[in-house]
Amino acid sequence: MTAPLTPDLVVTGGTVVSHDGRRRQDVAVADGRVIAVGDDLAMDGVPTVDAAGLLVLPGLVDVHVHLREPGMTEKEDFASGTSAAAAGGVTTVVDMPNTKPPVATAERYQQKLDLVRNKAYVDFGLYGMLDHDNADEIAGMAELGAMGFKLFMGQTTGDNRCPNDAAIFRGLEAAADADLVVGVHAENDHLLRMFGDRLQAEGRRDPRAHLEGRPAFVEVEAITRIITMATEAKTKLHIHHLSTAAGLQRVMDMRAQGHRVSIEALVSHLFLDESAYDTYGNLIKLNPPIRPAADVAALWAGIDRGDVDVVATDHAPHTVTEQAETDVWKAYGGFIGVETMLPLMLTAAAQGRLTVEDIVRLCSYTPARRWSMADKGRIAPGFDADLVLVDPGAEVVLDQAGLHSKHNVTPYHGWELTGSVVATYLRGQLVYEKGEVVGAPAGRQVKPVREGMR
Ligand code: DOR
Ligand code: ZN
Repeated sequence: MTAPLTPDLVVTGGTVVSHDGRRRQDVAVADGRVIAVGDDLAMDGVPTVDAAGLLVLPGLVDVHVHLREPGMTEKEDFASGTSAAAAGGVTTVVDMPNTKPPVATAERYQQKLDLVRNKAYVDFGLYGMLDHDNADEIAGMAELGAMGFKLFMGQTTGDNRCPNDAAIFRGLEAAADADLVVGVHAENDHLLRMFGDRLQAEGRRDPRAHLEGRPAFVEVEAITRIITMATEAKTKLHIHHLSTAAGLQRVMDMRAQGHRVSIEALVSHLFLDESAYDTYGNLIKLNPPIRPAADVAALWAGIDRGDVDVVATDHAPHTVTEQAETDVWKAYGGFIGVETMLPLMLTAAAQGRLTVEDIVRLCSYTPARRWSMADKGRIAPGFDADLVLVDPGAEVVLDQAGLHSKHNVTPYHGWELTGSVVATYLRGQLVYEKGEVVGAPAGRQVKPVREGMR
């Protein structure tokens, strides 16, 4: 053991919430890391932050954002998207590769890193893409620090080709060799295109047609196929935005048979149901779609039982003009969310639907562990001092004008929320306080600690 460091910051008097409990404690920070958690850590001459009456959470880890660089910066970019993250108490994002061009080769991965590395206000991991026929690029992307690989089994923004099963399997094997997670968008592309064409031919243009064109079994089929293949290839598999009761049941059945897979529910799939099409139209078009209330209830029940591992946002910005499109087939899927995740989840906690410990587990601790982010997801000595100060009782009417994305249009505008982010610290540095993102962009690339590296 080296001699204990003198702290350069102490957060005093807050209630520190972890994935498995809470205690009123001080947090001492030096050189960006937590060095102690305990009583009476304040010291003469060391700056303190008074967190009395507040909760202190480990920074959230959102494993599903689309910050749109390169190629779609009219929608969002790393500076705006990570500003929104900082304001939402999210100190690590994992960015998706469905950009223009897609991040499907080591060369493109390096280009993306060079492009974004000095623009981020929070730490970031970058996914590569498991594309058609790019299995021999997987190792190269892994060497550059890829967080994992995104597999789009169903078409979405970017309109990337969906790999066939042979290409998928080769990619799964390569990812397993690299000891990295494959995160999947599980929808059967052929089926959803066929249903979409059929509805279009019938003259449907309304927002709800999107839901009808992507029935639950389209998800169930893709889930079943990918879990089957990933088990065979010995790949760490994560299912992004699982959205149906039937899909969740299939995962549970396959887990009971010994398959191992982690699953994610989106904030949007937890807080919006089918009735939202009447209120918000195509703004809430999302792939997979916003579902009937029974599916929403099943996801909450899955959270309750501990079967859902991760909650994330699928922060998927489009321009204000694009979001106003009235023809469902021309509208894009997705909308912003990284800044509103924590306030919405805190509101659910205030209503007794889950605990703040659950939020920490679902949105910070488990994602950090699953993606092998050794320094994230806990407030404990040695971990990065990513801290979120939260006022759990603050009553706020959400105003989209105050958000930090490039295009601030959200279905949650005007919602009455309980709980707000007071301040966010990234590795001990203040990055957000009371409505403002502060300081220069100091976010770093987070790389997974893979087997054999430690
Ligand atoms: O609706 C969606 N939009 N779902 C996705 O999976 C991707 C996202 C996007 O990139 O716009
Ligand atoms: Zn997504």
